[in-house]
Amino acid sequence: MSPFTPSRRVVGLTALSTLVLTACGGGGGGGGGTGGGGWSSSSSRSTSSASSSSSSSSVLPDPATAPALKTTFAGKFKVGMAIEPARLNESISRTILEKHANSIVAENVMKPHAISPSEGVYNFTEADKLITFAQANGMEVRGHALLWHASAPDWFFAGDATSPTYKDTVRKRLEDYITTVCTHFKGKVVAWDVVNEVASDNSGETYRNSRWYQIFGNDYIEYAFRAAKLADPDVKLFINDYGTEDPLKLARLMNIVQTMLDRGVPIEGVGHQFHINSYWPPAGNVTAALDAAKNKRLINHATELDISIYNDPGSCYGTPSTGCIAQVNPGSAQYNNHLRVQASKYRELFNLFAARTDIESVTMWGVADDHTWLDSFPVARKNYPFMFDTTGRPKNSFWAVVDPAFVI
Ligand code: XIL
Repeated sequence: MSPFTPSRRVVGLTALSTLVLTACGGGGGGGGGTGGGGWSSSSSRSTSSASSSSSSSSVLPDPATAPALKTTFAGKFKVGMAIEPARLNESISRTILEKHANSIVAENVMKPHAISPSEGVYNFTEADKLITFAQANGMEVRGHALLWHASAPDWFFAGDATSPTYKDTVRKRLEDYITTVCTHFKGKVVAWDVVNEVASDNSGETYRNSRWYQIFGNDYIEYAFRAAKLADPDVKLFINDYGTEDPLKLARLMNIVQTMLDRGVPIEGVGHQFHINSYWPPAGNVTAALDAAKNKRLINHATELDISIYNDPGSCYGTPSTGCIAQVNPGSAQYNNHLRVQASKYRELFNLFAARTDIESVTMWGVADDHTWLDSFPVARKNYPFMFDTTGRPKNSFWAVVDPAFVI
């Protein structure tokens, strides 16, 4: 069974989503920015053509006039997108990446199950294809992820757990893995998500109760960061998690960060996944998340941004999953409305990001609406979370972000 069955992710997101989504209700959200981000479009496209767009999502500026996202936000932050090597051969992804992105991340092929399916076996072939593509196009690569409970092959934990040497054995496997992988990618990645999703979703519990935690308590986080630092002193080391836009989850994560910093663990940045939706969270929660890291003198990266069009209730993330919003179809009034609210949320977020100096990188967890993990999470249902549609055309979300004068 794949380590990525939706049920695992459901377990991971259940409590958070219950908290977050019930807290936010179905409120208006997506208040929309006023375009005060301070950047200017590099496009020669006339503002009047954008401004004259009707609020119908079917009338949008000519895609040929679209400025590159990476140019729009040059000097502010890198614009990243998650990609799989196979998709580089397919024109929608490749064309968008080459024009708009100056950073990429592997959606899956740099996770432990992909790199090292069994002990001592390392397969870098697929990941190296992304490195080659990035180097050919002058892009940065974010490394994702050295340790993640949902991609922890059994070989790490093999052996007699009651043996006095068991902990040392597992620790050595972890350190060897991290050393080998960081050494391989040394000079080729700018940042590593060293540990991913280690904070708990449950109130009264700080750490995720993963196999790593069951064996080592919180020490495994320290082992992972120290091994990464030793292998590649120049790469920036991140703790990455979802739900930082939820104040309770944020508090748990920052508690972990402070505990580690107090021990001298070399955490340099916080990765905020930001798997959000058109109606949640309000901008203030995003600001609070970024401020929390900034106040500890850490760098911020938005690492996995996507904006689901569905404002599901918390029960949708439960087991069993119930109450998920029914799929909406392109062309329907509902769909058009969702896309407008989504565009407001994109504008609001990018205005907020561009106004800050502590956020160095904003990565979307995909490229265009033709491919997104949200098509199967939290339920099987077509989603449209990006700035480019299923054919690769810029959506109103895109125009809302690049052009302050664009009327959504
Ligand atoms: C997801 C990928 O997008 C899917 O293709 C895969 O099946 C499961 O993992 N948080 C993370 C990412 O840190 O690694 C996850 O990526 C999405 C949630």
